[in-house]
Amino acid sequence: MDTSFIFNEDVESWETLMFLYNSALKEVTTKLEILNDEFKHVHKYDPIEYIKHRIKTPESIVKKLKRHSLEINVDNMIHHINDIAGVRIICSFTSDIYKIAEMIGKQNDLTVISVKDYIRNPKPSGYQSFHMLVSVPIFIGEKVVDTKVEIQIRTIGMDFWASLEHKIYYKFEGHAPAHISRELRDCATIVSMMDAKMLQLNEEIIKAKKEQEEEKNS
Ligand code: GTP
Ligand code: MG
Repeated sequence: MDTSFIFNEDVESWETLMFLYNSALKEVTTKLEILNDEFKHVHKYDPIEYIKHRIKTPESIVKKLKRHSLEINVDNMIHHINDIAGVRIICSFTSDIYKIAEMIGKQNDLTVISVKDYIRNPKPSGYQSFHMLVSVPIFIGEKVVDTKVEIQIRTIGMDFWASLEHKIYYKFEGHAPAHISRELRDCATIVSMMDAKMLQLNEEIIKAKKEQEEEKNS
């Protein structure tokens, strides 16, 4: 990819950087798949519905640097843009989010840099998700480079809302009419009510199943 038109740096440093972020993304994704398998093995159920990942495009990196009034160079990109490598984990239930987050925190080859809980504290837009900024050591030649990956953990409902809100809001470039913003927030409330209901139903089902089995065995 020729990025010299936006980054006044040599192509090699850009390619090295992309190698680092791509490797970090692979490391984290594999780790998460193994965590899900481990969970399945121990608890006989898998909390992750699916995992998505992406590398931020050069265009969107430049846009973000500009938005933060930062000079466009590789150094600012490394230090100020935390979501160049991004992983999204879609869970079945809200409770799974915290289980996954805890498991990620216990991985000793991952460093948790920061955590943002937009489920307990939703954004003014209504956005809900659990964010973790982690770093993974990537071996390149003789060196080890700690590379950042942004992990977003959400339920199917939260992902549904965030994807559509992004699409709708994007059209207004942040200047949506007040009633639309309000209605989007209302939708977020409906989504969290559904998540709570689904979780409650799941717990009831587990309990009922356990009681049936106990009855059978007595
Ligand atoms: P940026 O928002 O990316 O500039 O970084 P930040 O440091 O403020 O991080 P934050 O945790 O606020 O959000 C990071 C990411 O979460 C965004 O890139 C989106 O993917 C997602 N996100 C945050 N707020 C919203 C929102 O209101 N709507 C949607 N759809 N997604 C959001
Ligand atoms: Mg933000």
